[in-house]
Amino acid sequence: MLLEGKSAVIYGGGSIGGAVARAFAREGAKVFLTGRTLATLDEVAGEIRSERGVVDTAQVDALYETAVEEHADAVAASAGSIDISFNLISQGDVQGTPLRVCLVVATPIAFCSIEGSTTVAKLTYLAITSLDGYTADEDGNFDWAAPDEEVHAFVNDLARPLGTYLYGRRMYETMVYWETAHTLADQLPVEQDFTEIWQAAEKIVYSTTLETVSSARTRIEQDFDPDVIREMKASAQRDINVGGPDLAAQAFKAGLVDEIHLFVAPIVVGGGKQSFPDDISIKLELLNERRFGNGMVHFQYRTRA
Ligand SMILES: NC(=O)c1ccc[n+]([C@@H]2O[C@H](COP(=O)([O-])OP(=O)(O)OC[C@H]3O[C@@H](n4cnc5c(N)ncnc54)[C@H](OP(=O)(O)O)[C@@H]3O)[C@@H](O)[C@H]2O)c1
Repeated sequence: MLLEGKSAVIYGGGSIGGAVARAFAREGAKVFLTGRTLATLDEVAGEIRSERGVVDTAQVDALYETAVEEHADAVAASAGSIDISFNLISQGDVQGTPLRVCLVVATPIAFCSIEGSTTVAKLTYLAITSLDGYTADEDGNFDWAAPDEEVHAFVNDLARPLGTYLYGRRMYETMVYWETAHTLADQLPVEQDFTEIWQAAEKIVYSTTLETVSSARTRIEQDFDPDVIREMKASAQRDINVGGPDLAAQAFKAGLVDEIHLFVAPIVVGGGKQSFPDDISIKLELLNERRFGNGMVHFQYRTRA
């Protein structure tokens, strides 16, 4: 990881500061979020914490004083040193400057202006697969992939920071269940949680046959254009997930996928719908693994160029 062992203080937990904090944390930095608004900072810190395995929760602190120098002193005292300071200073803080991004590498402070926004959305692929690599068996059955409560809670935490789902039509037809799941009796707390997470996210369904959708925050696209997804990643404030092996295959082939979350179920099904297409070759870096009581194992990989 690029920033392993580095300490970074980020002033401002809004959209830009939050995106920078998430990016630094993913690269292994010890992140200190600082700023004036407690609620916003807590929200961003919570999101970073929820990305299990990427950020140690102990690596995120929120300090609430206002002066940059005070933050710097406090962080330096706590971390031992500051390697990177990323400060967003809005109009009023710095006379005559509409928006400034101050990137400070150690001290002394040096200012540089950056126009526009800084975003770092990832495209992730999450699949629950058999040990031999299928998301559904030859009969289309995938009841063996149903997560128990422990796995479900883990999946919820992975899904919580996502802003948008890109779905192949078939995967959408499975997942749209969550649009009305809250109306069912006896929902488990993890299911209620996922229902809220899913309903809050934006969805794009890729289909040449669907004419209407039955969920909110959902639109249909008739064509999967990699350039459009690249632009989406460049401007999105939250991460994006691609779901459905057929659609995901196109994202892999276009080199768009940044991370894979693979849940391997303890079963061999012998054939069916492959989780990954045949004709791709991607080097991966293992970021995290976890075993669950039901025998499933989660692997988190980052794709490498
Ligand atoms: N293991 C699990 O936990 C799990 C969970 C849910 C579902 N599943 C299973 O996973 C399988 C999903 O399979 P899949 O790979 O066929 O599904 P998919 O990727 O979700 O959907 C394929 C469909 O997406 C549309 N599509 C794909 N590329 C497109 C493009 N470039 N432009 C426009 N539309 C595009 C097409 O829809 P149109 O035909 O409408 O054009 C295509 O038929 C199913 O068997 C499902 O039962 C497994």
